[in-house]
Amino acid sequence: MKRFNVAVVGATGAVGEEMLRVMEEVDFPVNKLVPLASARSAGSEIEYKGEKVKVKELTEQVFDEEEIEIALFSAGGAISAHFAPFAVEAGAVVIDNTSHFRMDPEVPLVVPEVNPQDIAAWKNKGIIANPNCSTIQMVQALKPLEDRFGVKRVDVATYQATSGAGKSAMEELVMQMKDFFAFKLDESEHKKFPHQIALNVIPQIDKFLDNGYTKEEMKMVNETKKIMHKNIEVSATCVRVPVLRGHSEAATVWFEKDITAEAVREALYNGENIVVVDNPANGEYPMPVMVVGKDETYVGRIRKDIYRDNVAHIWIVADNLRVGAATNAVRIALKWIEMEYEI
Ligand SMILES: NC(=O)c1ccc[n+]([C@@H]2O[C@H](COP(=O)([O-])OP(=O)(O)OC[C@H]3O[C@@H](n4cnc5c(N)ncnc54)[C@H](OP(=O)(O)O)[C@@H]3O)[C@@H](O)[C@H]2O)c1
Repeated sequence: MKRFNVAVVGATGAVGEEMLRVMEEVDFPVNKLVPLASARSAGSEIEYKGEKVKVKELTEQVFDEEEIEIALFSAGGAISAHFAPFAVEAGAVVIDNTSHFRMDPEVPLVVPEVNPQDIAAWKNKGIIANPNCSTIQMVQALKPLEDRFGVKRVDVATYQATSGAGKSAMEELVMQMKDFFAFKLDESEHKKFPHQIALNVIPQIDKFLDNGYTKEEMKMVNETKKIMHKNIEVSATCVRVPVLRGHSEAATVWFEKDITAEAVREALYNGENIVVVDNPANGEYPMPVMVVGKDETYVGRIRKDIYRDNVAHIWIVADNLRVGAATNAVRIALKWIEMEYEI
């Protein structure tokens, strides 16, 4: 079986580290692994399959020098904007975790459980985009429902973990909790979030736009339509909560047909990489602590609306660093290999 020279750009970050872990677990066909980061981390070491590998500095030339064939990017939008074209020029396929290329009509935006066929369009620009973490887990749950009942509209409120904003954001929550126990929370700093996140919830993720929604909320709106190839109405309220890992979403889904809670539950049972945990009588439903390190999206609290026969309410939880980023990117890469090399 062919093995590939793989670069992980942002290998020292929250998503990059998880990407390496997922690659190890699935025994990704690596010939040579090249972890890349900024000059700050160049020379440090990461461990891959029990061996130490030196982190190199991301440069314009490194993809050519290392003969990279697959480049997984997660070092921020500006980094992808500048360096992804050099990786493509060197002959690599780029799988990009940032928002930079997502809405480019020539770049496929892929969740392998939903629109794997779109990967074929990678040839347009040599780039495949990974959606926003909140979008990925939502469309995974929507896909089996769309197939069975037709989805018209989704109203969703998210409860997003601090790791969604990177390693330093997780540290900010931990520091503020320490300060709380030292009775000096009022002196605690906040840099990553617009307000104190410990013992708080913040109804703002990213910047506000002219329409009153945030950029994060509009990502869920626009990306859902692109991935599902359908003009589904989406309205989102994205909220940061003091959780380290695992995004939760309360979604109200409007269907083209009437539903029963049982039929919705059954459709979700058959969804790809969906786990249904829905036994409220025993206090069983998905929670962030339950999904850490998992590669599936968990769904529960499935119920029909009190007033309308074509509306259901569901609760969707997934590990944002894995399902919402690393696992999705690695699954895209594996599908790309399968399609290009007919393996
Ligand atoms: N966290 C999530 O749930 C999530 C989900 C989907 C997508 N994403 C996206 O993935 C990207 C990374 O997120 P993250 O959470 O992993 O952030 P992070 O923990 O802050 O890590 C950032 C990574 O980028 C590297 N980097 C920063 N500036 C660089 C530069 N000038 N040149 C080369 N490398 C540079 C850092 O390397 P150093 O060690 O050298 O600083 C580090 O490896 C972001 O665009 C984010 O939007 C994140």
